[in-house]
Amino acid sequence: MPELVRDHTVHAIYHKTPMFLPPCDFSVADIREEEVLSPIFAKFQPEMVLHLAGITAVSHALAITEDDVKAINVTASGTLAKLSQKFSAKIIYTSTDLVYSGSEGGMVKEDGKLEPLSLYASTKLEGETAVRESTNDFLILRLALMYGFSKGKVKSFFQEAYNKVKSGQKVVLFNDQYRSSLSVLDAARMMKKLITSQHAYKLLNFGSAERTSRAQLFSRFVQKAGLDERLLEIRSLKEFPNLPQVEDVSLDVSILVSMGITPMPVEKSIDETVKNLPNS
Ligand SMILES: NC(=O)c1ccc[n+]([C@@H]2O[C@H](COP(=O)([O-])OP(=O)(O)OC[C@H]3O[C@@H](n4cnc5c(N)ncnc54)[C@H](OP(=O)(O)O)[C@@H]3O)[C@@H](O)[C@H]2O)c1
Repeated sequence: MPELVRDHTVHAIYHKTPMFLPPCDFSVADIREEEVLSPIFAKFQPEMVLHLAGITAVSHALAITEDDVKAINVTASGTLAKLSQKFSAKIIYTSTDLVYSGSEGGMVKEDGKLEPLSLYASTKLEGETAVRESTNDFLILRLALMYGFSKGKVKSFFQEAYNKVKSGQKVVLFNDQYRSSLSVLDAARMMKKLITSQHAYKLLNFGSAERTSRAQLFSRFVQKAGLDERLLEIRSLKEFPNLPQVEDVSLDVSILVSMGITPMPVEKSIDETVKNLPNS
């Protein structure tokens, strides 16, 4: 958000807690309520809608019903797309790498096999369909796993793992689960470039250009941050059959790179993450 506010007029919609206060203009709304959203669209007349809201973390999703998850991730995505069409705005919908099959060898292209294995992933995929069916002017981004530090109430795996290691607790890391993990700082810069780039794509992978396991990425971060590597317990995903067995959803980001939107090398973005560690 701070990246966008520098060069654009931004009106943010928050659900419960506004995280970036003025100069960013904002409303508090539930995206399930079209009657609340509609006057916001009418007043603000957006040229572009960046739709980032959703039920993301499993623990968060378990705290509410499956119907609620569908209403937010699917139906409300369609509502936002319909309103965007009505007000002649393009909508960018943030989907996930988890819509892909994790057993096809990775570095998956945008036309890769789809096989969501969780409620989160399947509702994000249904959200893509809801967006496609509600407007012609859309871009679906399939985001890789993000790492870094969030201001929101849902903390990423990375942030929770950092808090644990910092307080002397062990962290289990899988050495056989691969993603194209992207730092949130790099993602914000790339997103800012993407929203003003002229192109005709409707669907793009959005991640780092490198394939890393959770164990590789987090161990490297721990080394660079000078934390205690002995607290890292390296295991196999297969030892946890109750978890969705998503082995490799690393992304082919060559289309994104061909548009001049180039992710930072992972080594450099870990350095940047270490330089921006939270104070507490
Ligand atoms: N982070 C990742 O690794 C990752 C990877 C792939 C894709 N994505 C996608 O990228 C987007 C952003 O992810 P994130 O990590 O920022 O997620 P997040 O931290 O879980 O934030 C989701 C946001 O959605 C809001 N929200 C939930 N229900 C809402 C409702 N009914 N009305 C309005 N807002 C509502 C939440 O607000 P409250 O907390 O106030 O409810 C929260 O601010 C999501 O669409 C996610 O699926 C993320």
